Amino acid sequence: MAEQFLNLRSSSPGSGTITIKPCPRLEGDVVLPGDKSISHRAVILNSLAEGKAEIDNFAPGGDCLATVRCLRALGVKIDRKGSKNPSTLLVSGTGENGLKEASNVLNAQDSATTMRLLGGLLASQSFLSVITGDASLRKRPMGRLIQPLRLMGAEIWGRERDSFAPLVVMGKKLQGIDFTLPIPSAQIKSAMLLAGLFARGNTILHQITPSRDHTERMLKRMGASLEIQGNSISLMPLSSPLVSIDLCIPGDISSAAYFLAAGAIHRNARILVRDSGINPTRTGIIDILLAMGARLQITNRRLEDSEPLADIVVESSELKGIEVGGDIIPRLIDEIPLLAVAGCIARGKTVIRDARELRVKESDRIATIASELSRLGAQIEPLPDGMVIYGGRSLSGTEVDSHFDHRLAMSLAVAGLVSKGETAIKHAQVTKVSYPAFWQTLNQILNYSQC
Ligand code: S3P
Repeated sequence: MAEQFLNLRSSSPGSGTITIKPCPRLEGDVVLPGDKSISHRAVILNSLAEGKAEIDNFAPGGDCLATVRCLRALGVKIDRKGSKNPSTLLVSGTGENGLKEASNVLNAQDSATTMRLLGGLLASQSFLSVITGDASLRKRPMGRLIQPLRLMGAEIWGRERDSFAPLVVMGKKLQGIDFTLPIPSAQIKSAMLLAGLFARGNTILHQITPSRDHTERMLKRMGASLEIQGNSISLMPLSSPLVSIDLCIPGDISSAAYFLAAGAIHRNARILVRDSGINPTRTGIIDILLAMGARLQITNRRLEDSEPLADIVVESSELKGIEVGGDIIPRLIDEIPLLAVAGCIARGKTVIRDARELRVKESDRIATIASELSRLGAQIEPLPDGMVIYGGRSLSGTEVDSHFDHRLAMSLAVAGLVSKGETAIKHAQVTKVSYPAFWQTLNQILNYSQC
């Protein structure tokens, strides 16, 4: 990281540790990367469609690039629009029966969304696929994908009695099923919808708690027969190929969240985040920050390419502790480590429940955020499905570790902005999987704020 990083520096080049210290003012505008969840779906569904699609503001992180590489290996032509605009992809849809057997193992790298969505899709294609991932992804649960796909007739196996990747998939014609999703996972829901597109009979999914609905929105727009009634989805198999669509991916609200929380907990801040997605299945963090007392304003609301977006301004706020649990959890699942940071600064107690899923993310996020924030002086009691945070204590910088988890690294950066002294974040470059420009953007804000 270069010398112009005044309050943000890499301890020694290439070490992967970034040191952050607080700035008396926090001010600036943030331009977000494209939404990661929507980007995965846009490139997968357009690969299956008939026609060409231009996808603007495609998420630049490693996770979505892993999806692009896998699709290329399956015979899809995907190009960058030109060196001037690397965030625009041109996808030539392969249409009916267009995917081809890959000549090698597919590698989803760190991306569970890649593995699970492609796992569902490949279960319904008439060839063999093997999908692996990096050491972290190979520890994440895949039984939750394998079991429901098998109910559709899929031939899919995983390591350790079908629990973990690598996955072996012998694709075949599947049968649609009527199924209640036992966990509110958009990855599993989307995997089953992708499988259901090519199955015999309808795929009917009931959600106990709704999860992000980007797949449903995009499938409808591309001409699939998909109906939603309450928390249930009914999908008819394709009678003709999906229709390619051009789209501009909205900014990622999960990336916006770091700046929104930073602005709310900092004593002297004003940050504007432009063009952020505000899909209601993703805005739990906004609802909770508002309920905690954040001064947050949403303006310029609009709907583009079937997804709502807006600009959001946040200013320094006096936050108070809150109880978070139940149906809101899937709407902010990726933001819970960040919420823990806000909870440390808020007055009173914050209790997070019903979030056991955090234990099987890129790290065990209950354990990792509790231990790393405790190093900074926070008082946090981990629970099996969440944590209790005793707020209102001041934090003091020291060395902390991202545990190679991008959401941890960015949450700890926010904590560093309000801690006394220096906070050194080890393995900080892991942010590249979802937000490669995170440190640059934060540095720009610090420079603009004259730190
Ligand atoms: C995602 C769904 C969520 C989320 C992940 C992205 C998606 O995972 O945590 O970052 O794009 O479908 P689960 O489906 O496992 O809850």
